[in-house]
Amino acid sequence: MTIFNLGSINADLFYHVPHLPAPGETLAARSFTRGLGGKGANMSVAAARAAARCVHIGAVGADGAWAVDRLMEYGVYTQFISTVSENTGNALIAVDDTGENTIILYPGANHAISTDHLAEALDGAGASDIFLTQNETNAQRAAAELASSKGMRVAYAAAPFDAKAVQAVLPLLDLLFLNAVEARQLQEATGLAPEALPVRDVIVTLGGDGACWHNTDTGETRAFPAVPVTPVDTTGAGDTFTGYVLAGLDRGLPMEQAIGQAMIAGAIMVTREGTADVIPDLRDVQDFGG
Ligand code: RIB
Ligand code: NA
Repeated sequence: MTIFNLGSINADLFYHVPHLPAPGETLAARSFTRGLGGKGANMSVAAARAAARCVHIGAVGADGAWAVDRLMEYGVYTQFISTVSENTGNALIAVDDTGENTIILYPGANHAISTDHLAEALDGAGASDIFLTQNETNAQRAAAELASSKGMRVAYAAAPFDAKAVQAVLPLLDLLFLNAVEARQLQEATGLAPEALPVRDVIVTLGGDGACWHNTDTGETRAFPAVPVTPVDTTGAGDTFTGYVLAGLDRGLPMEQAIGQAMIAGAIMVTREGTADVIPDLRDVQDFGG
């Protein structure tokens, strides 16, 4: 079984600042680092770290060869990452002393994925495979349709939130990942609470309040307590959670256990500065008690 992830690849430009900048303010950063990121790349790395076979579908510019190399190094299959004429996407990330962040995204190559490329990547995929996507690339709807027509399980993380984009894919989804803010935004857009959405499994992460999972087959909602940690940098924690849940399912774990491991992986991520480069592997998660 394979997870096919249509997702963004970014250079994450991290600025550690004493507080998040106010309008008109010039602020000196305490440190600066460049790492691998993008919600898509983070999810692929998390899935690979969690011992799943993950094929990343995406695009970089000529300046992005290092990002593809790094994904490969982390165990992600990269043969369906194309090189296009746009620049590689990047994200300007400010992180303050409490671990809170703001992100400015430049999509670049992430918005230049061709549907031919997508069809080629999913050529051999079928009912035992999972398709995953988020909102930082183009072609989500076409991709979800194609994946669904092949009988794949279709998973989607509604981040960054876009009411139109979520509503376009909603009828095609088997699994939906939301954070608390996205759940509220989706409820405002559709009038439906997470447990009333027409998606079999809806998983909502609630930061310090844990997570909950609603399954429409049983009609039950299960709550998962948060793993207590002191936040250093929350960036990428949600992406890590999503990658871990799907990897667990792909490895045949029941949902409860997949979510349990994902909660720990997400919590570890919150204690680490950075994104894809610092995603914990299964051994770290097990050492933590998962
Ligand atoms: O969710 C975190 C990610 O959002 C970062 O890696 C950044 O690239 C943006 O896509
Ligand atoms: Na982090």
